[in-house]
Amino acid sequence: MLDHLGIAVKSLTAAKEIYEKLGLSVSAEEVVPSEGVRLVMVPLGASRIELLEPASEDSPIARFLAKRGEGLHHICLRVPDLVATVHKLKADGVRLVSDTIKTGAGGHRYVFVHPSSAGGVLLELVESGH
Ligand code: CO
Repeated sequence: MLDHLGIAVKSLTAAKEIYEKLGLSVSAEEVVPSEGVRLVMVPLGASRIELLEPASEDSPIARFLAKRGEGLHHICLRVPDLVATVHKLKADGVRLVSDTIKTGAGGHRYVFVHPSSAGGVLLELVESGH
């Protein structure tokens, strides 16, 4: 199931305007220091849009913006058992961005599959029920 789409933006204030104009509710800003990112969520039924603004100049989002500009950064799927999924993917030779499961916004646990193993798209996996 699609959990969210992650969009890299230069300014949350500017980027969230279109969603507010569409009558959607935008969450309060949250900072994830470990990823150097400031974000808001826009709920869309069972899934969400995640707007990501760099919180530091050397963060992955800052590097993405410098290289590619604003736009779709990653897609995130929900899986029933994240630990089992990571074990299976590693055994299958899938390349992950980091070897360990991390904790992010809202306390959810996640890993990223490298774009080289996912058709050129950065793929985030989170556990359902969190
Ligand atoms: Co995400």
